[in-house]
Amino acid sequence: MLQLSAALARIRPSPTVAITGRALELKAAGRDIIALSAGEPDFDTPEHIRAAGMAAISEGRTRYTPVDGIPELKRAIVAKFARENGLAYGVDQITVGTGGKQVIFSALLATLDPGDEVLIPAPYWVSYPDIVRLAGATPVILPTTVENGFRLTPGALAGAITERTKWLILNSPGNPTGAAYARDEIAALAQVLLAHPQVLVMADDIYEHLVYDGFPFTTPAQVEPALKARTLTVNGVSKAYAMTGWRIGYGAGPADLIRAMAVIQSQSTSNPSSIGQWAALAALEGPQDFLPGFRAAFARRRDLVVKALNAIPGIRCPVPQGAFYVYPGISALIGRTSAGGRRIDSDEDFVTALLEETGVAVVFGAAFGLSPHFRISYAASDELLHEACARIGDFCARLH
Ligand SMILES: Cc1ncc(COP(=O)(O)O)c(C=O)c1O
Repeated sequence: MLQLSAALARIRPSPTVAITGRALELKAAGRDIIALSAGEPDFDTPEHIRAAGMAAISEGRTRYTPVDGIPELKRAIVAKFARENGLAYGVDQITVGTGGKQVIFSALLATLDPGDEVLIPAPYWVSYPDIVRLAGATPVILPTTVENGFRLTPGALAGAITERTKWLILNSPGNPTGAAYARDEIAALAQVLLAHPQVLVMADDIYEHLVYDGFPFTTPAQVEPALKARTLTVNGVSKAYAMTGWRIGYGAGPADLIRAMAVIQSQSTSNPSSIGQWAALAALEGPQDFLPGFRAAFARRRDLVVKALNAIPGIRCPVPQGAFYVYPGISALIGRTSAGGRRIDSDEDFVTALLEETGVAVVFGAAFGLSPHFRISYAASDELLHEACARIGDFCARLH
């Protein structure tokens, strides 16, 4: 029998991927499935970006590149941070990886040892705690509440920092709640961090461009310049530019951290895809005029889903500021039984029964560390969202 590693035993497969897989299985078996479980835009990559990728192929830009990115893309990322975030970086402070995920992975692997602690507000993106565990360190989960808008408070942060704390991970707008931090909220957290110079800050800004109702996006290194020297700001083209499959993410931070991350990359992927990098360059340097259209579509769908879910007795759905997720609470439905005879003792039971009995695939809250909730990704057509919410309403009405 195959002996697997102790490192593997510390992590689990992504629940988001598992549920999407089950939804695909049911679909292949002929069931009418609406999958609202995956975290990606339903739009195509804009035409000029696809053209840049095709040009890279036809012009032969298909060889190994420098480990953490071609200089052209790094310069475009420097310009992006200056233009959009008022942050000045040199190219030696920029890294490009195979998705934002690899940037996070390299940073954590390059800095964590057993015994180190990483503060992660919950609900969290499923990968943070598992990457920390893979690195042999300890995720310290800081629960947030609906009442606080799923945002970490300065008091909770201050109470969680120990001499072992290595990182705080802040994701705004966040997956799975869509909650975003306002400038004064980031400033209040920064005040706490200033008293603990050993704590690094990972700002995961991957949903930066997906904010609604004029919400002003800000990021920790911009709000508190004194934090910049110990902040890794992570971003990428996956979400805003509908480029999930191209696998390009980037980060900006202190040059010694960036160099250490390149060592990890040099022994894992060697470099992010050359073609993806040239396409990402076109994304960052090219016209941004499609973004308001993406934002408007997402904002409309957010409103549609929030309204439909809040009309269902037993479901409470807060209005998120950004990303393309809602994270409704279902505490009033726990303990009930579905029309198909399934007992709902947890949010996992809820999503399983919902998928099996109505064909709507969503992700249970326990996967993100805060129950009882579920996550809907509303990156789908208005028609599908209407139909999904109608099925969820019908399912809930038949609980007894
Ligand atoms: C919060 C968050 N960070 C990072 C990522 C990584 O995205 P990618 O690796 O596609 O750039 C995701 C993707 O789901 C995410 O939701």
